[in-house]
Amino acid sequence: MSHSSASRPISVSIVGAAGLIGRRHVQHVLDDAGFTLTSIVDPTPGGVELAKELGVSYFADIAALLGPPPRSETTASSLPQAAIIATPSALHISQAILFVERGIHVLIEKPLCNSSEEAVKLLEVSRREGAGTILVGFHRRFNPYIIQLRKFLYGHHLSPPDTDASAVGRVVAFHGFWCTRKPASYFEEAPWRMSKLQGGGVVMTNMSHELDLMRFLFGEIDRVYAEEGKRTRAHDVEETVSITIHFVDGTVGTFLLSDVGLSPHSFESATGENPKLARHHEPIYTIIGTEGTVTFPDLTHWSAVGGEGDWTKALQKRASSLALPFDADFATEKGPNAPFSVRLQHWHRALQGKEALGCTLQDGIVNMNLLDAIRESMATGKPIHIGL
Ligand SMILES: NC(=O)c1ccc[n+]([C@@H]2O[C@H](COP(=O)([O-])OP(=O)(O)OC[C@H]3O[C@@H](n4cnc5c(N)ncnc54)[C@H](O)[C@@H]3O)[C@@H](O)[C@H]2O)c1
Repeated sequence: MSHSSASRPISVSIVGAAGLIGRRHVQHVLDDAGFTLTSIVDPTPGGVELAKELGVSYFADIAALLGPPPRSETTASSLPQAAIIATPSALHISQAILFVERGIHVLIEKPLCNSSEEAVKLLEVSRREGAGTILVGFHRRFNPYIIQLRKFLYGHHLSPPDTDASAVGRVVAFHGFWCTRKPASYFEEAPWRMSKLQGGGVVMTNMSHELDLMRFLFGEIDRVYAEEGKRTRAHDVEETVSITIHFVDGTVGTFLLSDVGLSPHSFESATGENPKLARHHEPIYTIIGTEGTVTFPDLTHWSAVGGEGDWTKALQKRASSLALPFDADFATEKGPNAPFSVRLQHWHRALQGKEALGCTLQDGIVNMNLLDAIRESMATGKPIHIGL
């Protein structure tokens, strides 16, 4: 990937590099001329092998990489300028603190942690003088299909959403799906994925992305209610959940979530974002406004033929000119439009002070509060209000 800046590449260490998402980060950093991979940290034999294969320094843990504080000026320059944390979610906060307090910038995989209480310490460290900056890894904000949806709805993709003035009129309601069946091997190869304590479960793993996107599309959420469905596996975590969402501006939404129900309705299937997963390009979101409806990612737009529409009048159905083709090469693993690449380019510009971080620690904390609220609602059977 080329960067307009001729400055030296930013040195990066990847923690948890040998894992599922860690390996994707490795590939993207290697492909991006704005960064140079200097080391990996991962305690497994897979980590040792990967470092050998890539010809980069290997460390079994972060303490070995950073050495004991304080370090001399000379050795400090051998530290990476940035780190990507791609370990199980319950480790994120303690690991991020080690980097941030040394002034090393971090990209923390989503979700930020396993409980919002843990995040308070990182917030405190991040406010100290000389602390490293934090980008939270909700990469779907950088997905080209999402960028097009924001452009369709609001005419731009960067400013906050104004749901009272969208291309479908006043947005009143939203429905979303994330339903697909994860195979047994997904859990067997990383047992933390079936443990509540270690941050597993479809709410933490998959709903976290959806909540971040809903906030990105419609603004803040102030109430959720969640009901857990059947369990079909002998795991400690939920599998199927229905969720209702109330946004601060009055928009309401429903969401169906399942990692056991076999269906074509998931973000990955709809956008082709993850090359390892099957693609079907079926719509997953429906956004309903006073003047029409749009579905995602196809951007099929239903609207009145002329004047004000109502239930007596036929609607017209058109594909928006902003709709992107469903092309295997378009938004997949490689190339400048891959969401991980777009996010990496953004991180590079942000680290150079050229733009504000696109998903902040505050976003990570708000998303975490919402995840906690969904888990609390499932446990208590009550709607949960979120203090903003
Ligand atoms: N952005 C996305 O779409 C996406 C997709 C998958 C996973 N994730 C997130 O990425 C994180 C990792 O998930 P995964 O599925 O890749 O997990 P994984 O179990 O496949 O990989 C985790 C890696 O971390 C390593 N590790 C464990 N303890 C460590 C330690 N103390 N120090 C250094 N390395 C250590 C493991 O050896 C392993 O290689 C989770 O937070 C998950 O929610 C994000």
